[in-house]
Amino acid sequence: MRLITLATAVLTLALGATAVAGDENPDTDRPAEGGGTATSGPKLGPRTDPMPTGWSQKTINIMVGAVQRTVLADGPGSDTYSCGPVPYPIIISYHGRGSNPGRMRGLSQFHDQKYCSIVLYPSGLNGLGRDSTAMSYGTLKSCWQGAPYCTPKVPGTGPPETIRDDVAFFDALINLVRTEYGSWAALDRVYVSGKSNGAEFANYLACYHGDQIAAIAPVSGPFYYAMAGLDADPSCSPTHPIPVINFHGDADKAVKYQGSGRWESCLGNLCDPPDRVARIPNLPKWAAAWGDHNGCESQELDVPVPGAAQPSSGQETFLSKYYNCNGDVEVLHYHTKNGLHDWPSLSPNDDNTQDDQTFATVPAVLGTMNATEVIVQFFKRFTLRP
Ligand SMILES: *[C@@H]1O[C@H](CO)[C@@H](O)[C@H](O)[C@H]1NC(C)=O
Repeated sequence: MRLITLATAVLTLALGATAVAGDENPDTDRPAEGGGTATSGPKLGPRTDPMPTGWSQKTINIMVGAVQRTVLADGPGSDTYSCGPVPYPIIISYHGRGSNPGRMRGLSQFHDQKYCSIVLYPSGLNGLGRDSTAMSYGTLKSCWQGAPYCTPKVPGTGPPETIRDDVAFFDALINLVRTEYGSWAALDRVYVSGKSNGAEFANYLACYHGDQIAAIAPVSGPFYYAMAGLDADPSCSPTHPIPVINFHGDADKAVKYQGSGRWESCLGNLCDPPDRVARIPNLPKWAAAWGDHNGCESQELDVPVPGAAQPSSGQETFLSKYYNCNGDVEVLHYHTKNGLHDWPSLSPNDDNTQDDQTFATVPAVLGTMNATEVIVQFFKRFTLRP
């Protein structure tokens, strides 16, 4: 009886904390462990509630080393709908260069109620590098590690400048999920997605953190870190088979489908090594390399996807599939003919109403499918194995 009373008290406290966090968009500070440096602050124990009362959105700041990082989180909370039995999968959705969590939330919509997932939209630190069009330095934009324009040192934080560690930030996010959502979160179902530079980082994480990620979904990504044998930086050698689902348009002007050399990297004094020239791999070859890595024995290449045609934009989608792989994983590469540097969507979104290069607003160029829907259905099939 005594034990039950105690459990109820803890439960009430936990729900109380959640209710407070359910306000519009409160900033809360949470300690980070492992990847980050723990600071003082409330620590929520593992949650044992069988059914959260709803979902809510909040902005959370965590310290990673000496740097404060920010993430927009959608998870069990106090809003009015409920979501079936716990635990819930975790989807981390990384924005593109110069973008932000709110925009990525609107674009990828992984927090849609129908997916019942805990979704984190992390915020990138600024990097200082060349733009693809302007061959001059000096544009500060939010970005993720692994891209040449994303300086390893963070400008404006020094001297000495802070060393960027987005991988430690990822570790801190996993710890945040543990402390914030406890047993409501299925840590064997952590999925990582991203757009453009965020897609690059999803791939980068799979290279170095494959043991914690159940699947990745990079969209329109420049894969600077790729596996040996590709015409890119051959530094990705993941230890585990990883399910991969990828989308890329062959009319993408920002990240060329055929691969390309890219502009020189960041300012010498912020780079290590200084000013390397980066290359990105050809997309079909990149997908095939994941198929090889995963030991896939069967493949189907560039097969038209039934119904995936958009007469209004002339887009058409083809699928390359690598299957019969180690660990029952799979690699899917959706190639969209005439597809742009967009998050594929049947409805207007921030990407398909904006020119890839000038960023001018344009009439919506609709895709052939909702990538988010296809990605979530793919994620659902995979759980991390011990
Ligand atoms: C595609 O996504 C949009 C935006 O989330 C949604 O309004 C629309 O109903 C979806 N369409 C289909 C066919 O799923």
